[in-house]
Amino acid sequence: MTDKAWPYPLWIAHRGAGKLAPENTLAAFKLGADHGYRAFECDVKLSSDEQPFLMHDVELDRTTPDQGRAGERSWQELSQLDAGHWHSSEFVGEPIPSLEDVARYVQGHDFALNIEIKPTPGMELRTGQVVGKHVRHLWRDPAQTLPLFSSFSPQALEGARETAPEVPRALLLDQLWVGCVEMALSLQCVALVVEHKLVDAAFVTRTHAAGLRLLCYTVNDSDEVNRLLRLHVDGIITDAVDRFSPDANEFQITRPSALN
Ligand code: G3P
Ligand code: MG
Repeated sequence: MTDKAWPYPLWIAHRGAGKLAPENTLAAFKLGADHGYRAFECDVKLSSDEQPFLMHDVELDRTTPDQGRAGERSWQELSQLDAGHWHSSEFVGEPIPSLEDVARYVQGHDFALNIEIKPTPGMELRTGQVVGKHVRHLWRDPAQTLPLFSSFSPQALEGARETAPEVPRALLLDQLWVGCVEMALSLQCVALVVEHKLVDAAFVTRTHAAGLRLLCYTVNDSDEVNRLLRLHVDGIITDAVDRFSPDANEFQITRPSALN
């Protein structure tokens, strides 16, 4: 990647490496890296003692043997849970990573990170504030590429802006609500991350005209990948790390440099 103004690779592995390894674990990141991925999306929330850790759901029961709200457990309790058994026997014993574990991993490999701030309901502002504070500390080496924050919650992005204003932000959208682009601009976001079926040429033009990058999630179909690349989107978040190679020629379409 040579574009300093936008340091993130086009291809981003979803939840570490999608569905081939237990989501939001270091095993998933390693699997994605084995497939050539150099950028990763993950979901981050807070434990009851305000440690940022990786988990998508509010509740523990889908991805661990336990039940109840993850955000009501201490990091000590969460760090003991098996986050791999639910997926397959190969990953039994895989732990829930803290954000610090992930920072160490991606920095050690010079990978880029998209941190989706995924607050426990009611904790939106506080989660953004605390994750911002941790990221500022964990990425204090100016040689490291800062992560990209994203969230469906404007409040969480506001919290991250308060404590880590220099870390780039993106508004996540699962629908194109009235005022969403203006909301992103008011939060001084650098990008939108949009459900891919909502993206058409007019929306790409509108987003780029507003000075924002446009990333799409979660794109697992090759025809859809090619449609989006022809529209010149700036990022593709995928589960299909085994089918879409970031280096594959068939997906290399010349991209404009208007925002560089
Ligand atoms: O950040 C893109 C995508 O991860 C948002 O949806 O539910 O998979 O976190 P979800
Ligand atoms: Mg996510």
